[in-house]
Amino acid sequence: MVNVLSLFDGMSCGQLALNKANIQYDNYFASEIKKHAIETTQHNYPKTIQLGDVHNIYGSQLPHIDLLIGGSPCQNLTYMNSQGRVGLEGEKSKLFYEFVRLLKETKPKYFLLENVGSMKNKDKELITKILGVKPIKFNSSLVSAQKRNRLYWTNIPFLGLPNDKQVMLNDIVDRTAPREENWSEKKQEFVLRKSKTMYVNIDGNKSIPITARAYSSWNTQFITNADGMLRDLTLEEYKKLQTIPSWYEFPCIKSKATNLIGDGWTIDVISHLLKGMVI
Ligand SMILES: C[S@@+](CC[C@H](N)C(=O)[O-])C[C@H]1O[C@@H](n2cnc3c(N)ncnc32)[C@H](O)[C@@H]1O
Repeated sequence: MVNVLSLFDGMSCGQLALNKANIQYDNYFASEIKKHAIETTQHNYPKTIQLGDVHNIYGSQLPHIDLLIGGSPCQNLTYMNSQGRVGLEGEKSKLFYEFVRLLKETKPKYFLLENVGSMKNKDKELITKILGVKPIKFNSSLVSAQKRNRLYWTNIPFLGLPNDKQVMLNDIVDRTAPREENWSEKKQEFVLRKSKTMYVNIDGNKSIPITARAYSSWNTQFITNADGMLRDLTLEEYKKLQTIPSWYEFPCIKSKATNLIGDGWTIDVISHLLKGMVI
C-alpha cells in the first residue's frame, strides 16, 4: 500500500503531479478547509480522502505514510503582501509548523514542502534548519509560460533542473478568444495604469505569477487580442500557465477556479521533483 498525505491540498495539484510522473498510490489523504477547493478535488478525484483542518489530524490515526506533501500558506512570507509580511510566525504562515508536526508524527519516507521564493532570508534559513535539507530553487518559467519563483524543501533525490522548454505566452494564448466578461471603464483605466507596476502585465514573453486573488482584483496578466481589444486570460489559459491538463474541471465560477489555480502548484514542476522517488 502506498499512502500519500497532502496538507493544504487546495485543488489537489499533488495528485495531478503524481499522475503526470506515473507514480502509483493507493490512498491519498488530503487536508483542506476551503469548500470550493474540496468540491473541485472531489469532482476530479472522487477517491480522495478529505480529512479537513490540519489541526485535527494526528499521525497516530493514520496508516503508514510514504509521502507527505504540502505548500503551506504564504501570505505572511510573500513579497506581494508587504504589510502582512511578518514571517513564519504570522497567522497564516505559521501553519508550516503543522507540516513539521505531521512530519514528525508520520515519519514518511519522502516529504516535499513548497513555498514562495520571495520570503525573507531569515524565514528561509529557519525552514531549512527545521527540515534539515536545503531548498531547491525552481522557477516554473522553465516548464511553462509563467514566471513563478518557488522554493522546494525535499528529501526526494534531486534529478537536477529540467532543460528550459522555452514555452512563451504566445504559445498558449488564443488572440482571437472573445472577452469572457464585460469591462467597465474603471477596469480598463485600472489595468492600463497598473501595467506600469509589478502587479499587472499586458502581453510579454511570459506571464507574471498568478496569485489566488489575481483575477478578482484585476492584478494579473492580460492579453491584447489581434483586434486590439484588451482581455483577461481565459480559464483554459490560466490552466495552461500552471500546466494543468485540459480534462481537469472546475465545478465553480471563474473567480473561484482562478483562486484555486493561483494558490496551486505548477504540475510539471512538482511531477519533475517527484520523479526521483523510489517506492
Ligand atoms: C497555498 S495553498 C496550497 C494549494 C495546493 N498546493 C494546491 O495544489 O492547490 C494553501 C491552502 O491551505 C489551505 N488551508 C488554510 N488553512 C488550513 C487548515 N487549517 N487546514 C487545512 N488547509 C488549510 C487553504 O485553504 C489553501 O487552499
